[in-house]
Amino acid sequence: MKILMVCLGNICRSPLAEGIMKEKVKAQRLDWRVDSAGTGAYHIGELPDPRSIEIARQYGIDLTDQRARKITHEDLEEFDLILTMDQSNYRHVRALAQNEAQRQKVKSILTFAETNPQSEVPDPYWDDNGFQIVYDLLDEATEGILKELAE
Ligand code: 4NP
Repeated sequence: MKILMVCLGNICRSPLAEGIMKEKVKAQRLDWRVDSAGTGAYHIGELPDPRSIEIARQYGIDLTDQRARKITHEDLEEFDLILTMDQSNYRHVRALAQNEAQRQKVKSILTFAETNPQSEVPDPYWDDNGFQIVYDLLDEATEGILKELAE
């Protein structure tokens, strides 16, 4: 299984999604590839946002080997599942898809969250207090991904 996590900047939400998913994949000893990318180019080459690094660190997850990059057409061919954080990311990535098979790979990450908490992972960039809810939503969603796909 090859999973790509996608948000806008690839510095706040998708790096956390990547880090949390990788931790669970490692714990289950699965041979999965997990990566992340942004739909925007503003932060290419940068480390994740310090607030994402910090909240991940509190849960024993290190994000500091990650660098932001922008999603490419090749990603839509290469990955099996492309998981977006909000409706804007979803629309953007669906529009990049070049055929129906690629379009089918694109899903909102919270479709995997069992309690169906909300439809979007809110953008925390302008809200210092937004990172805990992002962490909690992504923790639940990645747990759901593992349950659904790790058999
Ligand atoms: P992300 O958050 O999409 O979760 O990485 C954002 C990061 C940067 C910006 C917006 C959202 N920005 O406008 O620069």
